[in-house]
Amino acid sequence: MNFKVKNDTFLRALLRQPTEYTPLWMMRQAGRYLPEYRATRRTAGSFMGLCKSPDFATEVTLQPLDRFPLDAAILFSDILTVPDAMGLGLYFSEGEGPKFERPLETEADIMALQVPDIGKDLKYVTDAVSQIRKSLDGRVPLIGFSGSPWTLGCYMVEGGSSSDYAKVKTLMYKEPKLMHHILNVTAQAVTAYLNAQIEAGAQAVMIFDSWGGALSHSAFHEFSLAYTQRIVDGLIKEKDGVRIPSIVFTKGGGLWIESIADIGCDAVGLDWTMDIGVARQKVGHKVALQGNLDPTVLFATPEVIRNEVEKVLSSFGFGSGHVFNLGHGISQHTDPENAAALVQAVHELSKKYH
Ligand code: CP3
Repeated sequence: MNFKVKNDTFLRALLRQPTEYTPLWMMRQAGRYLPEYRATRRTAGSFMGLCKSPDFATEVTLQPLDRFPLDAAILFSDILTVPDAMGLGLYFSEGEGPKFERPLETEADIMALQVPDIGKDLKYVTDAVSQIRKSLDGRVPLIGFSGSPWTLGCYMVEGGSSSDYAKVKTLMYKEPKLMHHILNVTAQAVTAYLNAQIEAGAQAVMIFDSWGGALSHSAFHEFSLAYTQRIVDGLIKEKDGVRIPSIVFTKGGGLWIESIADIGCDAVGLDWTMDIGVARQKVGHKVALQGNLDPTVLFATPEVIRNEVEKVLSSFGFGSGHVFNLGHGISQHTDPENAAALVQAVHELSKKYH
């Protein structure tokens, strides 16, 4: 029992300890589908304005918890704060998603990359973590997060979102040493960043490898998983006598679930393409699983949501080691009432499996 948290169901599930029901949270649970988020964002002026102010970040982190009885909070921030701190100049252009003013274009750009001074350039994030922990007052655990080096590298080389990753994959095939240099520096930055979040109060950490699934089998292992593994190796595993579990989420990574489960993380996140029962058989007792409802299910009715929740729960089956989640972030077009129906369905229907 973790006495610092009133509801520690999420932490117990990540460690595959018994729970009374299946805990859940939703990726991107604080976001544009909530009218209160849109109002705070208007007051802050921009998305980065929310991230850079610990007061606003705390307010929006707590918004979904005030609406729904979720079992975890996730720090409100973005994975792209790390390349921003490395000097790439992050900005969000309306309707186009994230962009960098100074993407990595030349060998000189790449060789000049340095691990940022986390205590200075990312202090706004660790300040937000401490303030959120204080405001949560032990209600539920707080998750810290970062992007994987590969996923961050995609944005740093492409300069923004991409549909085919042609630039970054060309660099990887033509100049593998330069790609490895980017990944090496970024892995050091991410390790220090996640450890700083843990020191500031994060009680679990999650690594988002959103674009690992764009790689071939061998490239995934060499350019993505090897660096995620280095980070997991370097994480603080215990703080004040309490285990800090780590979760690795590779979108499109179902085919590689056994190798992901082998890198020393406590849990593996699954997108919606894989049957979670099959995933459980493949990983055995090595890790817990997090996922994996298709977020589009939330566009249907509460009845459909209940049916689809039951499918995921029954596929996972009896016992602990499951954190319910969506297979990717909740869409901005989701009706909050349907998110409420999801939370209720998971809590009610999962009891019989514990
Ligand atoms: O889960 C949470 O509630 C915590 C907050 C969080 C955000 N981004 C807030 C956000 C987390 C964990 C992320 C991670 C993130 N950011 C990822 C990995 C997860 C994934 O989705 O695969 C990636 C790839 C990013 C990069 C990023 N940030 C993109 C592509 C976008 C644009 C997305 C869009 O829908 O327009 C963002 C912006 C962003 N990050 C928003 C939020 C709430 C929307 C910003 C807004 O208010 O306009």
